[in-house]
Amino acid sequence: MPVPISEASAISPTMLAIEAQGLHKVFRGGWPTRRRKEALRGVAVAIPRGAIFGILGPNGAGKTTLLSILATLLLPDAGWARVLGLDVVRQARALRARVNLASGNASFLWALTAEEILHFYGRLYGLYGRGRHRKVQALLERCEIEPYRRVPYNELSTGLKQRLSLAKALLNDPEVLYLDEPTVGLDPDIAVRIREQIASLRRERGITIVLCTHYMREAEQLCDEVAFLREGRILARGSAAELKREIRTGDRIRVRLEGPVPALAGLPGVLEATAAEGVLECVVDDAVKRLDDLLGALREGGAVVRDVRVLEPDLEEVFLELAR
Ligand SMILES: Nc1ncnc2c1ncn2[C@@H]1O[C@H](COP(=O)(O)OP(=O)(O)O)[C@@H](O)[C@H]1O
Ligand SMILES: [Mg+2]
Repeated sequence: MPVPISEASAISPTMLAIEAQGLHKVFRGGWPTRRRKEALRGVAVAIPRGAIFGILGPNGAGKTTLLSILATLLLPDAGWARVLGLDVVRQARALRARVNLASGNASFLWALTAEEILHFYGRLYGLYGRGRHRKVQALLERCEIEPYRRVPYNELSTGLKQRLSLAKALLNDPEVLYLDEPTVGLDPDIAVRIREQIASLRRERGITIVLCTHYMREAEQLCDEVAFLREGRILARGSAAELKREIRTGDRIRVRLEGPVPALAGLPGVLEATAAEGVLECVVDDAVKRLDDLLGALREGGAVVRDVRVLEPDLEEVFLELAR
């Protein structure tokens, strides 16, 4: 069970589950060039206990590298990180018992069945006898793998492999769970189930979750806060709403109409307007302020308005703007 905050405070004086400053990591490529690759260039994070924190960024941004350092699987070249009050380098052993990682690209022993894999890892985590059997059974059910328990790993679908990876990561009841692209390559309906399971882990057990993804929607749906990582640096962080406000690329108003589309150039606050096949799309500085005038101008111009929608910018737009 996760440590309640009142007890945890004896271990860590802070309400942060994770704190890191100035993390650097350099990889040296293979023979013959040994090219240097700076995967992280001074990353800082502060993640509250019980949060779902998203690390977003394109392939190669450094997401897996950051997660691996926080999970004690890689050593940083510079900087420090503390997880649950423990230093990821000097107190790695103690920390490992209290965290876990599931990767969407995990690979387990191919010939073992789903159930055998969980027992194998259960033993590694020091679980024995009836306790381990109970735990494996509970996780097979929780992660919806039960009907496939006797199927060899290499015959499992991608979605089941990902659920098995999640089940494995829950064997030691981690207080901090790292998820590296947990829904990569999944059909949307299966990805939705995995996201529900992630949300319920936090709801029911208060686990702190760090989620790396390049799916903006996934982050927006699950995360309290996100950080955008690109080329080893954090470009921005905050809640989805904060980031959208900060970037403010404009609001989008979509109008379905009949009749002529009047020219809107010169209407105050309209930044851009495009019309095609009876749909007019306007980018305005502030939808609340401009909606009335916009609809007025359309009616005056002889258009019949059938439907109006104010579209929120999504994180994807924020990210594109940041990456410019
Ligand atoms: N073991 C490694 N050896 C050499 N280069 C690596 C290694 N791991 C990662 N890299 C490089 O570091 C950069 C960041 O990688 P990674 O953290 O895996 O990014 P992401 O998870 O965001 O896709 C990439 O350019 C990648 O090629
Ligand atoms: Mg990765």
